[in-house]
Amino acid sequence: YPISLGTRHPLTLVKNEIIDIFARMGFTLYQGPEIDDDQHVFTMLNFAADHPARDMQDTFFVERSNTMDVTKNVLLRSHTSNDEAHYMSTHEPPIRVLCPGRVYRNEAISARAHCFFHQVEGLYVDKNVSFTDLKQVLLTFAREMFGADTKIRLRPSYFPFTEPSVEVDVSCFKCGGKGCNVCKKTGWIEIMGAGMVHPRVLEMSGIDATVYSGFAFGLGQERVAMLRYGINDI
Ligand code: DAH
Repeated sequence: YPISLGTRHPLTLVKNEIIDIFARMGFTLYQGPEIDDDQHVFTMLNFAADHPARDMQDTFFVERSNTMDVTKNVLLRSHTSNDEAHYMSTHEPPIRVLCPGRVYRNEAISARAHCFFHQVEGLYVDKNVSFTDLKQVLLTFAREMFGADTKIRLRPSYFPFTEPSVEVDVSCFKCGGKGCNVCKKTGWIEIMGAGMVHPRVLEMSGIDATVYSGFAFGLGQERVAMLRYGINDI
């Protein structure tokens, strides 16, 4: 019998496309650990000791330290931002790195969310990196990924590891911004969080924040795949 050929998974297709686009802007690949410690997932990213993301309701623990020292906890990473801490503490700027990977959250499974999913983290650290650079890189990505007419919209947000922080929307590639069922009539679709790396985060990884600045972003692969392929239940 002939052996029938398989096809690539939508997440793999989307991941490869994202990698290609950022590779053309000079980003290289790095992959950090999925099983990690509190230190790299939270502490080095400026999460306060009592931040709710550290709670068991969000995080799967592999080992919980029985001392008060939360940094000793071993856990499944809840975002790919841990790769920022790993990469920055072992590499000197200039840094231009893209980190795709699996992440885990102790959440109820629904049509739009699973307890394990995939993100792509991006990090750029050098002298004189500004918010303008971040905007242009995001716009270039959005146009390459979703089409040349795509617009982006940045909304003020909060993440402990970036300041300022933004939520990034792209204009709906189905209706072009007029409003349809894909964008829930708003004309915009949220695809990632981003911001300027907090100076304390640079310093905690041994990078001189008086000399260097940077930006970071975190993108949900499922989100992009669902939009791109019209999947409404993962
Ligand atoms: N780590 C965030 C999350 O999982 C996403 C994120 C936001 C990553 C802002 C970033 C960033 O690098 O700058 O929700």
